[in-house]
Amino acid sequence: MSNPSPRKLFVTTALPYANGAFHIGHIMEYIQADIWVRFQRMQGNQIDFVSADDAHGAPIMIAAEKAGLTPQQFVAKIAAGRKPYLDGFHITFDNWHSTDGPENHQLAKQVYLDLKKAGLIATRTVEQFFDPEKNMFLPDRYIKGECPKCHSKDQYGDNCEVCAAVYAPTDLINPYSALTGSTPVLKSSEHFFFSLSDPRCVAFLEEWITGNDVDGKPHLQVEVANKVKEWFSVRSNPDGTTSEGLGDWDISRDAPYFGIEIPDAPGKYFYVWLDAPIGYLASLKNLLDKRGENFDIYMADPALEQIHFIGKDIVNFHTLFWPAMLKFSGRKTPNKVFVHGFLTVNNGEKMSKSRGTGLDPLKYLSLGMNPEWLRYYLANKLNARNEDIDFNQEDFIARVNSDLIGKYVNIASRAAGFIAKKFDGRVVTDWATADDAFISKLRNVAPEIQALYDQREYGKALRAIMEQADAINAYVDANKPWELAKDPAKSAALQEVCSRLLEAFRILTIYLKPVLPELAKQVEALLNIAPLQWADVNTPLPNAHQVNPYTHLMTRVEPKMLDALFDMPAVVNATVGVPTAATNDEETNNSTIEALAPEIKIDDFAKVDLRIAKIVNCEHVEGSDKLLRLTLDVGEGRLRNVFSGIKSAYKPEDLIGKLTVMVANLAPRKMKFGISEGMVLAASAADEKTNPGIYILNPWPGAEPGMRVG
Ligand code: MSP
Ligand code: ZN
Repeated sequence: MSNPSPRKLFVTTALPYANGAFHIGHIMEYIQADIWVRFQRMQGNQIDFVSADDAHGAPIMIAAEKAGLTPQQFVAKIAAGRKPYLDGFHITFDNWHSTDGPENHQLAKQVYLDLKKAGLIATRTVEQFFDPEKNMFLPDRYIKGECPKCHSKDQYGDNCEVCAAVYAPTDLINPYSALTGSTPVLKSSEHFFFSLSDPRCVAFLEEWITGNDVDGKPHLQVEVANKVKEWFSVRSNPDGTTSEGLGDWDISRDAPYFGIEIPDAPGKYFYVWLDAPIGYLASLKNLLDKRGENFDIYMADPALEQIHFIGKDIVNFHTLFWPAMLKFSGRKTPNKVFVHGFLTVNNGEKMSKSRGTGLDPLKYLSLGMNPEWLRYYLANKLNARNEDIDFNQEDFIARVNSDLIGKYVNIASRAAGFIAKKFDGRVVTDWATADDAFISKLRNVAPEIQALYDQREYGKALRAIMEQADAINAYVDANKPWELAKDPAKSAALQEVCSRLLEAFRILTIYLKPVLPELAKQVEALLNIAPLQWADVNTPLPNAHQVNPYTHLMTRVEPKMLDALFDMPAVVNATVGVPTAATNDEETNNSTIEALAPEIKIDDFAKVDLRIAKIVNCEHVEGSDKLLRLTLDVGEGRLRNVFSGIKSAYKPEDLIGKLTVMVANLAPRKMKFGISEGMVLAASAADEKTNPGIYILNPWPGAEPGMRVG
């Protein structure tokens, strides 16, 4: 049944900074958005779900420089590592792009020119700290000095971490550049501003923030709108004072800057937060171009709904600057900004945005943990408010094992086996009585669950679904198929009970499919049916339909997996692994192993700096049949390029995300294909004939990039 009036939805998640791998907070945001998107697709709504790397800004420029890469190379490396996360957790973006793509350069310039035409761009001279050695203006976070209040040393340019004082960088005593250590000088430069204080902007935003969308629902959650309204009344100035109303927004930065050049302003670039949200449109345009569709026509459709999923830390950019930029450049304004809270892990501190400690998503996958456990668990916790949620390891085990497996998956295992074994896989659905009460009830909750998903109340939706699962399990207990199976005279009853159970299981699967897409696929294969859509709730399996033999659907989570996931880093003991005096020539000669190298002293060994390295990317090297190019993270805040002769043994995709061991202090070596900055360790037999394999080293779970091996 097709949806008679499908919604047309353009959905985005925040664009992650391209300065590091995803952490679990990013994955949570993507799972939240992906569930919503999959739910809408199941309704027959038309969706384009896009994101991109947020490539620009000073921190990325500086990180690239430290890595000895151009910013473009640096962000390309980060981008290359995204896929295993997105595929691994079944996140179905229709497009992943970059804010440094040509579409964004063009769109950002156009938006700016349109704002300028509207009379909303002003210039003003701003005096700022400048690093004379580096020849660049310093963002606040790169200026340090003594706190003017409590005199603690080495505090950041805008606030003191010791006494929490807020001040301007110019208030610091003995300021210094965190980049070069030199004393910054004050220098003025012309900056461009977006005139948010213009009465037109204020009037528009006041209305937009509290206003309703075309569907009669507010653009913003109530608690978000209330917070944003506060910014209207008071704002804090850099010098610690406060002013009334909205301030103008400084949208320019001076060269050197990795960003988009401002038209007709040589040496001036857009501040990263100007072009970042425009990246939503750029990623969409990139997708439409690939599909041969016209971006302007697409955006002009009055039925189009533009929806942004974001975290609570970036609300001001999305509810003030972004709608105003769109409005006054003559563009469509967002329909909804859906704000979520932060994920913490095991009651931990809020994860640091850059370090994102706690739960490493790739480690989760590499331990063989099912991504749908996490999707299910997080969905259980998620709601429509912007409150923080906590990943708790005991709770995770309980939700997955008792609800997901115990209540849902078990229904299939209790019913499908009998149908396959005793009835040639045939179900009966022309039951004489109407639906049993439990099945009617199960069908009737569809609209309620639908509404909960649409409102992002996933926790409530799953609780409503599990209540139905309880009712189904009560039916199992009341009818005891295993008892019926013992009595051949009750064969018809057994077939009917199990058929009803499979029908109930089918409906439950529809309800859970946005959260558990892969499991739903397995169920579709088991039931031998086409991909389930929401409307299929009311279309039972045909009578005498043949289902496939039951195969196991999902395993339980083992507590030891969580122990491994949160394993404390191993204690590095400098003497462990150092060979003792076992250099008996005879022994070595008798065996097939390569003769040992001459004895060394511990000091000799200590010269070799072995480190745990994470393979963040791996690719073939054009023109080489031996080498793979590895991009390694050794925890240095930069990435290394290493060529390794392991092509015969590994596929690049098998290595990405894995940990290994590298010689980290080997002098860089210029090779035909580029510079190799180290060497990864791999085992191989002396005699290729006995074993031609190459075996790259892989530490036990818990090791982390940068740890010394010794
Ligand atoms: N680049 C900007 C966004 C630009 S959007 C035009 C940015 N990037 S980020 O990588 O720092 O964050 C990306 C998203 O992840 C944000 O929505 C942020 O709120 C979210 N999260 C970061 N840490 C998080 C948690 N611990 N928990 C949940 N979401 C978190 O900001
Ligand atoms: Zn202080």
